[in-house]
Amino acid sequence: MSCCGLFGFQRNSVNPSKKMSQGVADIAVVGLAVMGQNLILNMNDHGFVVCAYNRTVEKVDRFLANEAKGTKIVGARSIQEMINSLKSPRRVMLMVQAGKAVDDFIEQLVPLLSNGDIIIDGGNSDYKDSQRRYHYLKQKGLYYIGTGVSGGEEGARYGPSIMPGGSLEAWPFVKDIFQSISAKVENEPCCDWVGTDGAGHFVKMVHNGIEYGDMQLICEAYDIMLNSLDLDLNEIGNIFTEWNKTELDSFLIEITANILKYKENGEFVLPKIKDSAGQKGTGKWTAIESLDYGIPVTLIGESVFARCLSSLIGERANASKVLHGPANTKYAGDKKEFVEAIRKALYASKIISYAQGFMLLKEAAKKHSWNLNYGGIALMWRGGCIIRSQFLGNIKSAFDKNPNLENLLLDEFFTQEIHKCQDSWRKVVSQGVLLGVPLPCFSTALAFYDGYRSKRLPANLIQAQRDYFGAHTYELLSNPGVYVHTNWTGHGGNVSSSAYTA
Ligand SMILES: *[C@@H]1O[C@H](CO)[C@@H](O)[C@H](O)[C@H]1NC(C)=O
Ligand SMILES: *[C@@H]1O[C@H](CO)[C@@H](O)[C@H](O)[C@H]1NC(C)=O
Ligand SMILES: *[C@@H]1O[C@H](CO)[C@@H](O)[C@H](O)[C@H]1NC(C)=O
Ligand SMILES: *[C@@H]1O[C@H](CO)[C@@H](O)[C@H](O)[C@H]1NC(C)=O
Ligand SMILES: *[C@@H]1O[C@H](CO)[C@@H](O)[C@H](O)[C@H]1NC(C)=O
Repeated sequence: MSCCGLFGFQRNSVNPSKKMSQGVADIAVVGLAVMGQNLILNMNDHGFVVCAYNRTVEKVDRFLANEAKGTKIVGARSIQEMINSLKSPRRVMLMVQAGKAVDDFIEQLVPLLSNGDIIIDGGNSDYKDSQRRYHYLKQKGLYYIGTGVSGGEEGARYGPSIMPGGSLEAWPFVKDIFQSISAKVENEPCCDWVGTDGAGHFVKMVHNGIEYGDMQLICEAYDIMLNSLDLDLNEIGNIFTEWNKTELDSFLIEITANILKYKENGEFVLPKIKDSAGQKGTGKWTAIESLDYGIPVTLIGESVFARCLSSLIGERANASKVLHGPANTKYAGDKKEFVEAIRKALYASKIISYAQGFMLLKEAAKKHSWNLNYGGIALMWRGGCIIRSQFLGNIKSAFDKNPNLENLLLDEFFTQEIHKCQDSWRKVVSQGVLLGVPLPCFSTALAFYDGYRSKRLPANLIQAQRDYFGAHTYELLSNPGVYVHTNWTGHGGNVSSSAYTA
């Protein structure tokens, strides 16, 4: 089955209504930092002629004389020269720092390009910027593609996951390049059209948010094994190697196994690393968007806060001397059995995280009229990117089976998987509580699960409280849509029904 969307292959195609330019290059890439260089080399490997440009011209010369030596790659020493090198319609891909640099380059390109030329932003841009640029360039007669590119340096060189969105009219002109250089899973490219304006960068943002969650879940599993089971790093590393052969088979589990076992001069490296996590912001963006859209993406939110808490390293050191935990911090039962319970808790929590991520995608799609293909997104994430895993194959199957699936948790396969894991999951979360090991993502996932499966929640009491102190009114189950107020105190003011809906 093909995931390749709407158009046939159109290698080097030109729009016949446009005057041919004299160039030889299929695409230009601006920005020769490592991601840009590696994408260029990857495109070259797949038979495309790429023009390389960097504002610092020595960068271009150095690249041509070294990494690009003996290839068909051409260089440009000015933006005009770069434009002249291109076939029509011109395709210019920006691999520069997200933010102002992208706008600056767009401003320089606009006067030099012709109707129907295409500007592609392959950086980690905020999807709202991509929406703005799409509309701006459309009004100038130009096409815009904002695309997520994931997989780090290695991915860029040998096959990233690529998530393009923007001007649908431009997709036929970049499809062949992008799908050729992207990762493949069972011969299917991990690249397909996502949707209009900022959809590509939105999907990339959610990918990064999910990545934050996956990483934190792995950390929690490691933490409880290290501190409550007294396993050493080699043992935990071996456990992750084993887990990599199960439903958890994924890039992040695999690198974790390698990291845990890694030694320099006979000593483990991991314990020497400062336990204060950095972040570049895409996880935070996902959490902010989920608040804005009102979607409970709790696990990604907790994973961002866990990084924030980790960075309070001085305060934590001080607090550790004052604030006590439980007397007993060691698990007394069967270790092997508990390790398996931790695996299941991780798996169940991961299912919740992806279910939440897809809930956010669905809400954003509704809001922006993006016709997102959820199975296609799962396939794009299946290979090439940081969250790549076997598991995403199951998510793709779920959405292939039912593209209108209300929630991933309601797919038969995932319902069964959660049911199989649930006892272990509860055991691990409760042991974490008893032994004093923080498991923010395992526990928020379980709390979400218990909330999501509840026909009734205590929000009736919230409504009563709001009406009590603020006369906000409430609806009766027996009469929805009609807002009523109760004179709770005997001295409240008069509130006409439906006056307040806040
Ligand atoms: C040029 O290359 C440097 C890396 O050496 C990079 O930091 C910079 O963004 C590039 N400039 C552009 C946008 O051409
Ligand atoms: C993890 O599994 C993949 C296959 O799914 C394999 O290529 C990789 O080598 C495994 N990694 C480890 C550390 O076991
Ligand atoms: C930790 O305590 C020390 C000594 O009381 C104090 O100087 C320092 O500012 C504290 N650090 C933080 C980050 O609160
Ligand atoms: C609320 O109840 C009190 C006591 O029964 C009554 O005096 C008052 O008029 C009521 N207020 C309204 C707005 O109905
Ligand atoms: C409360 O307001 C309603 C409609 O505005 C009015 O009919 C009613 O008489 C008011 N009740 C009191 C106690 O003021």
